[in-house]
Amino acid sequence: MKPYDTKVIRPGQSLEEAARLLREGQLVSFPTETVYGLGANALIEDAVRAIFAAKGRPADNPLIVHIWPGYDLDQIVEEIPDSAKKLMEAFWPGPLTMSFRKKDCIPDATTAGLDTVGIRMPDHPVAQSLLRMSGVPVAAPSANSSGRPSPTTAQHVWEDMKGKIPCIVDGGDCKVGLESTFVDMTGPVPMILRPGAITREMLEEVVGRVDVEPSVAKGLAISDEEKPRSPGMKYRHYAPKGQMLLLDGTMEQKAAWIRKALEESDEKTGLLISTELKDMIFPSEPVPEAVHLEELGSHQDPEEMAHRLFGALRRFDEYRCTRIYGEAFSDTGVEMALMNRMRRAAAGQILHLQKGI
Ligand code: TXA
Ligand code: MG
Repeated sequence: MKPYDTKVIRPGQSLEEAARLLREGQLVSFPTETVYGLGANALIEDAVRAIFAAKGRPADNPLIVHIWPGYDLDQIVEEIPDSAKKLMEAFWPGPLTMSFRKKDCIPDATTAGLDTVGIRMPDHPVAQSLLRMSGVPVAAPSANSSGRPSPTTAQHVWEDMKGKIPCIVDGGDCKVGLESTFVDMTGPVPMILRPGAITREMLEEVVGRVDVEPSVAKGLAISDEEKPRSPGMKYRHYAPKGQMLLLDGTMEQKAAWIRKALEESDEKTGLLISTELKDMIFPSEPVPEAVHLEELGSHQDPEEMAHRLFGALRRFDEYRCTRIYGEAFSDTGVEMALMNRMRRAAAGQILHLQKGI
């Protein structure tokens, strides 16, 4: 296929052309508050197929459909349970995707053959204007090449999509930095398939019990026989090229283990750790030359850590780190989302120091 001369629409420039491209079935990458999306008209089968081609995405991994405030959701989904209405009221527009039974106007290509469709209303002025101007529901996965960390800047999108799509809308840095919380609303109890900035605790405050799909707390540990509730769970994701290992234990154990590992090796080593752990490993001395440090921020501010994660993962490749040590986080609040992405980036490789392994 002939490469596109990819056009970048800068902040403040008209969205008219991007909206027209979307309406007509072309691909446009656009900013949201979570990550950049790679959008196409969700109602046009060929347009949706082009998304899979540009990303190199397996055809059995369904897409999320994006709508804007005021859009009549009954046009594309069968039934909206009361619990979903409450969650919409509380969290839309925002980083929450919910799945419903789809209507026939949504082609199978969009949902990879599933009879449910994930719907999201982004809380981003550029996304909302673009969607409203296009006038069509827009299918959009994260705008990375399949397997790479999701893009949180237009530059990340450019790195992955230059020449493959006609247009990128630059809306600056994504505020949240992790993909939306995905909740399956088609069963008796809402079930989190992917954790995000809207936490389990926040959801439960609105609708009572919310379950978490067990594989959320695993790395990639889905065997071929187990059919995941969300097809995306079974794919390698976010992984840097270097070998990544997560360390679980007390802060003292993690600091001691990393210090020793750094002493024993002169490999280019990446560290993906909190400010607190960094201060314990390097209390006063400078960070050694062979170490590329990605300091995510303080445990007091997990939102900021989430915001920095994907950029950090991309930089390990830039700095050619062959080995990466990451700090394991907790499985509550926003750290659940952070830890879910880190586990997948490390392909489930975790060292449990407290057990003395
Ligand atoms: O924040 C986000 O959600 C971003 C922005 C662009 O909106 N989008 C995004 O899309 O992260 P994507 O395609 O990268 O991730 C969607 C995930 C995939 O793991 C997919 O398997 C799952 O959601 N998914 C989509 N539709 C589904 C459905 N009907 N049932 C279960 N899982 C679904
Ligand atoms: Mg993605």
